[in-house]
Amino acid sequence: MTYHVPVMLQACLDGLKIKPDGTYVDVTFGAGGHSKSILKSLGVKGRLFGFDQDVDAIANQIEDERFTFVHANFRYLSNFLDYYQIDYVDGILADLGVSSHQINEADRGFSFRFQGPIDMRMNRYLEKTAADVLNTYDESELLRILSGFGQVRNSKTLASAIVDERNQVKFSVMSQLVNLLDRTRIGNRAKYFAQVFQALRVEVNEEMEVLKEFLNAATHRLAHEGRFVVMSYHSLEDKLVKSVMKTGNVYGEMKRDDYGNIERPYKLITKGVVQATPGEIKENNRARSARLRIAERRRDGKRSKK
Ligand SMILES: C[S@@+](CC[C@H](N)C(=O)[O-])C[C@H]1O[C@@H](n2cnc3c(N)ncnc32)[C@H](O)[C@@H]1O
Repeated sequence: MTYHVPVMLQACLDGLKIKPDGTYVDVTFGAGGHSKSILKSLGVKGRLFGFDQDVDAIANQIEDERFTFVHANFRYLSNFLDYYQIDYVDGILADLGVSSHQINEADRGFSFRFQGPIDMRMNRYLEKTAADVLNTYDESELLRILSGFGQVRNSKTLASAIVDERNQVKFSVMSQLVNLLDRTRIGNRAKYFAQVFQALRVEVNEEMEVLKEFLNAATHRLAHEGRFVVMSYHSLEDKLVKSVMKTGNVYGEMKRDDYGNIERPYKLITKGVVQATPGEIKENNRARSARLRIAERRRDGKRSKK
């Protein structure tokens, strides 16, 4: 089975506007689909770093002198750039979320289509699995993640049903969670399941905290005119990406200098969100929910008028 088909490849490459001698980072390497194309556009002096926290991605790394694979969470972007003695980079690409490989492997526990453990860790060295979340979180914490990260409409009912269920049998296998959701679900089954799974996955992988740390780090490490290309797949991610590209911070707060001028670290290259073409969606269903945003780093201190 194919590990992963890259989404919106040409739009990402165009967005990065690659300088042949530049230094680039693909923070979500996966099968290396985007990375391989970036390398094709780089000259002999160009460099590319590919991050992935999943041990399975190591096998995909590219044999090329210009390429360095970093088996780490992209929340540590700055630490690794320091380690490699790189101050600023010319472009950063992030294709957020999970790979098709992760979804299609039963033992990774990301999909309700398969029988397997309720796992959902992108980094298998993390201690906490989705089963641990279901088995140990207070009802109020379950409610917080189901409504906050999944926008599950009957979060209260579901949180209470999870506690009742685990008081009888601890959660371990996917069929147990699927059976429970079939009892509690409202509305469209696939949508309901997707929302609950999203909530658990985001919690297990600390995706919101990680994304905030990464967006801040990227803003500090992009060179003048460096390009920032981010593909997100759900509204929580997209909201943070949009805030950072518009205001330079994850809170979306406009900062002003002493003269009242708004400070904008980025120039927006895409005015809104760019979506995949029908042709791309036909070839790769994952492209359906992709939201691409591209921005260019302004020189520090450059301000725009009120
Ligand atoms: C959507 S796939 C990327 C696919 C890739 N663009 C390609 O063409 O093959 C996302 C990948 O990023 C990795 N990933 C997600 N969040 C990460 C994080 N916080 N740090 C490092 N890797 C992460 C996942 O393990 C997964 O392999």
